[in-house]
Amino acid sequence: MSVEVARLCKHSLESARVGTDEDKVQNGRDFYKFFFTNYPDLRVYFKGAEKFTADDVQKSERFEKQGQRILLAVHVLAETYANQEVFKAYVRETINRHRIYKMDPALWLAFFTVFVGYLGTKTTLDEATKNAWAEMGKVFNEEAQTHLKNSGLPHV
Ligand code: HEM
Repeated sequence: MSVEVARLCKHSLESARVGTDEDKVQNGRDFYKFFFTNYPDLRVYFKGAEKFTADDVQKSERFEKQGQRILLAVHVLAETYANQEVFKAYVRETINRHRIYKMDPALWLAFFTVFVGYLGTKTTLDEATKNAWAEMGKVFNEEAQTHLKNSGLPHV
Protein backbone atom coordinates (compact mmCIF):
# COMPACT_ATOMS: atom_id res chain seq x y z
CA MET A 1 0.00 0.00 0.00
CA SER A 2 2.61 2.55 1.07
CA VAL A 3 4.78 1.26 -1.79
CA GLU A 4 2.08 2.19 -4.33
CA VAL A 5 1.52 5.62 -2.73
CA ALA A 6 5.27 6.21 -2.86
CA ARG A 7 5.45 5.13 -6.49
CA LEU A 8 2.69 7.50 -7.59
CA CYS A 9 4.06 10.46 -5.62
CA LYS A 10 7.60 9.89 -6.89
CA HIS A 11 6.37 9.60 -10.45
CA SER A 12 4.52 12.93 -10.23
CA LEU A 13 7.62 14.60 -8.74
CA GLU A 14 9.44 13.96 -11.99
CA SER A 15 7.68 17.19 -13.01
CA ALA A 16 9.24 19.10 -10.09
CA ARG A 17 12.84 17.98 -10.06
CA VAL A 18 15.52 19.50 -7.84
CA GLY A 19 18.98 20.42 -9.06
CA THR A 20 21.31 23.14 -10.20
CA ASP A 21 20.18 23.42 -13.82
CA GLU A 22 18.17 26.56 -14.47
CA ASP A 23 14.91 24.68 -15.10
CA LYS A 24 15.26 22.82 -11.79
CA VAL A 25 16.09 25.99 -9.83
CA GLN A 26 13.01 27.52 -11.42
CA ASN A 27 10.84 24.64 -10.17
CA GLY A 28 11.66 25.75 -6.62
CA ARG A 29 10.93 29.43 -7.27
CA ASP A 30 7.69 28.39 -8.92
CA PHE A 31 6.52 26.69 -5.72
CA TYR A 32 6.76 29.95 -3.75
CA LYS A 33 5.29 31.96 -6.62
CA PHE A 34 2.28 29.64 -6.56
CA PHE A 35 2.14 29.57 -2.75
CA PHE A 36 2.27 33.34 -2.21
CA THR A 37 -0.11 34.10 -5.08
CA ASN A 38 -2.78 31.60 -4.02
CA TYR A 39 -2.33 31.70 -0.23
CA PRO A 40 -1.15 35.27 0.45
CA ASP A 41 -2.20 35.08 4.11
CA LEU A 42 0.48 32.44 4.73
CA ARG A 43 3.25 34.86 3.80
CA VAL A 44 2.96 36.11 7.39
CA TYR A 45 5.30 33.30 8.50
CA PHE A 46 8.04 34.40 6.10
CA LYS A 47 9.59 37.33 7.95
CA GLY A 48 10.51 40.18 5.65
CA ALA A 49 8.55 38.61 2.78
CA GLU A 50 5.05 39.26 4.12
CA LYS A 51 4.23 41.42 1.08
CA PHE A 52 6.14 39.44 -1.56
CA THR A 53 4.52 39.06 -4.97
CA ALA A 54 5.36 36.32 -7.47
CA ASP A 55 7.68 38.81 -9.13
CA ASP A 56 9.52 39.46 -5.84
CA VAL A 57 9.96 35.70 -5.37
CA GLN A 58 11.34 35.37 -8.89
CA LYS A 59 14.08 37.93 -8.17
CA SER A 60 14.90 36.70 -4.66
CA GLU A 61 18.05 34.74 -3.79
CA ARG A 62 16.41 33.75 -0.49
CA PHE A 63 13.54 32.05 -2.34
CA GLU A 64 15.84 30.58 -4.97
CA LYS A 65 17.47 28.67 -2.09
CA GLN A 66 14.27 28.07 -0.15
CA GLY A 67 12.62 26.73 -3.29
CA GLN A 68 15.23 23.98 -3.49
CA ARG A 69 14.90 23.26 0.24
CA ILE A 70 11.16 22.73 0.11
CA LEU A 71 11.32 20.65 -3.07
CA LEU A 72 14.11 18.52 -1.61
CA ALA A 73 12.08 18.00 1.58
CA VAL A 74 9.05 16.83 -0.42
CA HIS A 75 11.23 14.52 -2.51
CA VAL A 76 12.59 13.07 0.74
CA LEU A 77 9.02 12.43 1.92
CA ALA A 78 8.22 10.54 -1.26
CA GLU A 79 11.53 8.68 -1.28
CA THR A 80 11.10 7.52 2.33
CA TYR A 81 7.36 6.84 2.35
CA ALA A 82 7.76 3.11 1.73
CA ASN A 83 9.83 2.97 4.95
CA GLN A 84 7.29 4.36 7.40
CA GLU A 85 9.70 4.41 10.35
CA VAL A 86 12.09 6.70 8.50
CA PHE A 87 9.27 8.76 6.97
CA LYS A 88 7.73 9.45 10.38
CA ALA A 89 11.10 10.34 11.88
CA TYR A 90 11.57 12.87 9.07
CA VAL A 91 8.10 14.27 9.76
CA ARG A 92 9.00 14.81 13.42
CA GLU A 93 12.29 16.44 12.44
CA THR A 94 10.41 18.79 10.10
CA ILE A 95 7.99 19.72 12.89
CA ASN A 96 10.89 20.39 15.28
CA ARG A 97 12.57 22.68 12.77
CA HIS A 98 9.36 24.71 12.31
CA ARG A 99 8.78 25.22 16.03
CA ILE A 100 10.26 28.72 15.86
CA TYR A 101 7.65 29.86 13.30
CA LYS A 102 4.72 29.17 15.68
CA MET A 103 2.56 27.94 12.82
CA ASP A 104 -1.12 27.15 13.08
CA PRO A 105 -1.05 23.32 13.49
CA ALA A 106 -3.84 22.97 10.89
CA LEU A 107 -1.30 24.00 8.25
CA TRP A 108 0.47 20.64 8.31
CA LEU A 109 -2.41 19.01 6.51
CA ALA A 110 -3.18 22.10 4.40
CA PHE A 111 0.36 22.05 3.01
CA PHE A 112 -0.49 19.03 0.88
CA THR A 113 -3.37 20.85 -0.79
CA VAL A 114 -0.97 23.68 -1.59
CA PHE A 115 1.68 21.32 -2.91
CA VAL A 116 -0.72 19.32 -5.09
CA GLY A 117 -2.02 22.61 -6.47
CA TYR A 118 1.53 23.58 -7.38
CA LEU A 119 2.25 20.17 -8.91
CA GLY A 120 -0.91 20.55 -10.98
CA THR A 121 0.69 23.57 -12.65
CA LYS A 122 3.58 21.36 -13.77
CA THR A 123 1.76 18.23 -14.96
CA THR A 124 -1.69 16.68 -15.22
CA LEU A 125 -2.41 14.67 -12.09
CA ASP A 126 -4.77 11.71 -12.36
CA GLU A 127 -7.17 10.71 -9.57
CA ALA A 128 -4.93 7.89 -8.32
CA THR A 129 -2.02 10.32 -7.95
CA LYS A 130 -4.15 12.92 -6.18
CA ASN A 131 -5.36 10.19 -3.82
CA ALA A 132 -1.78 9.10 -3.19
CA TRP A 133 -0.80 12.64 -2.16
CA ALA A 134 -3.88 12.89 0.04
CA GLU A 135 -2.88 9.64 1.75
CA MET A 136 0.68 10.83 2.29
CA GLY A 137 -0.67 14.10 3.71
CA LYS A 138 -2.95 12.21 6.07
CA VAL A 139 -0.10 10.07 7.44
CA PHE A 140 2.20 13.12 7.64
CA ASN A 141 -0.44 15.07 9.52
CA GLU A 142 -1.23 12.24 11.97
CA GLU A 143 2.42 11.94 12.89
CA ALA A 144 2.81 15.73 13.05
CA GLN A 145 -0.14 16.20 15.41
CA THR A 146 0.93 13.29 17.63
CA HIS A 147 4.41 14.74 17.84
CA LEU A 148 3.13 18.25 18.62
CA LYS A 149 0.93 16.78 21.37
CA ASN A 150 3.83 14.74 22.82
CA SER A 151 5.96 17.91 22.74
CA GLY A 152 3.34 19.87 24.69
CA LEU A 153 2.63 22.15 21.72
CA PRO A 154 -0.67 23.29 20.14
CA HIS A 155 -2.14 20.58 17.90
CA VAL A 156 -5.43 19.72 16.20
C1 HEM B 1 11.55 26.62 6.09
C2 HEM B 1 6.90 27.83 6.80
C3 HEM B 1 5.51 23.34 5.55
C4 HEM B 1 10.13 22.11 4.89
C5 HEM B 1 10.40 27.33 6.40
C6 HEM B 1 10.38 28.71 6.77
C7 HEM B 1 9.09 29.05 7.00
C8 HEM B 1 8.28 27.87 6.74
C9 HEM B 1 8.55 30.40 7.45
C10 HEM B 1 11.61 29.66 6.88
C11 HEM B 1 11.97 30.12 5.49
C12 HEM B 1 12.23 31.61 5.37
O1 HEM B 1 11.64 32.41 6.13
O2 HEM B 1 12.98 32.02 4.46
C13 HEM B 1 6.12 26.74 6.45
C14 HEM B 1 4.66 26.76 6.36
C15 HEM B 1 4.27 25.48 6.02
C16 HEM B 1 5.49 24.68 5.89
C17 HEM B 1 3.78 27.97 6.64
C18 HEM B 1 2.89 24.93 5.79
C19 HEM B 1 1.94 25.60 5.15
C20 HEM B 1 6.64 22.60 5.33
C21 HEM B 1 6.67 21.19 5.04
C22 HEM B 1 7.97 20.84 4.87
C23 HEM B 1 8.77 22.03 5.04
C24 HEM B 1 5.44 20.26 4.98
C25 HEM B 1 8.57 19.49 4.56
C26 HEM B 1 8.06 18.70 3.64
C27 HEM B 1 10.91 23.23 5.12
C28 HEM B 1 12.36 23.26 4.99
C29 HEM B 1 12.77 24.55 5.33
C30 HEM B 1 11.57 25.29 5.69
C31 HEM B 1 13.24 22.09 4.54
C32 HEM B 1 14.22 25.10 5.33
C33 HEM B 1 14.72 25.32 6.73
C34 HEM B 1 14.91 24.03 7.50
O3 HEM B 1 15.30 22.99 6.92
O4 HEM B 1 14.65 24.04 8.71
N1 HEM B 1 9.13 26.84 6.39
N2 HEM B 1 6.57 25.48 6.16
N3 HEM B 1 7.93 23.08 5.33
N4 HEM B 1 10.47 24.46 5.54
FE1 HEM B 1 8.54 24.95 5.90
